[in-house]
Amino acid sequence: MATFRTSQPVSPIDAGRPHVVLVGLPGSGKTTVGEGVATALGRPFLDLDREIERREGMPVTQIFGERGEYAFRQLERALTEELKDVGGMILSPGGGWIASPENVLLLRPPARFIYLRVRLETAIKRLGPQRSTRPLLVRPDPLGELRRLYEARKNAYEASDDSVDTERLSAAQVIEAVTELVRRAGAA
Ligand code: S3P
Repeated sequence: MATFRTSQPVSPIDAGRPHVVLVGLPGSGKTTVGEGVATALGRPFLDLDREIERREGMPVTQIFGERGEYAFRQLERALTEELKDVGGMILSPGGGWIASPENVLLLRPPARFIYLRVRLETAIKRLGPQRSTRPLLVRPDPLGELRRLYEARKNAYEASDDSVDTERLSAAQVIEAVTELVRRAGAA
């Protein structure tokens, strides 16, 4: 079995305890919420970007800059292939992961997808200086870029099993809402 750097041990795939995948735009809170939900449920958490950075020994921005976006997408795909053989994790892929239908098909079924909704303006605000670590948003018109990404991805995001509107909620409240959805779905 592949080794992932997670807080809890990773178990083999189990249809009764599928992965939970948090999807949404950059700035929707996938990493913070994923960590919180994993802690609440005692499940292993994996942020795919962080895992790719750890394995490649360089930040995502550098991978984009030196090898190009296509190379990064291949790393995302390879990691996703490893994840299809294990189960029960809380996963936070980057916002563009869902744009490759192959990634989705590798995990779902049985994985459960939860979409974290956020307004574009709020997402940019939440990212703050962290926007400089998102190569696709280091452009003269970041809001316009995010809108373009959203338009291209919204149908895929909307095809999730559940969604949480994060707009008026604190991170703690979103964590609670997602944890509840996972528990209610019997996937905990
Ligand atoms: C991307 C989002 C980023 C990261 C990469 C590409 C995207 O992750 O994977 O910069 O295509 O939207 P976050 O969603 O965590 O910002």
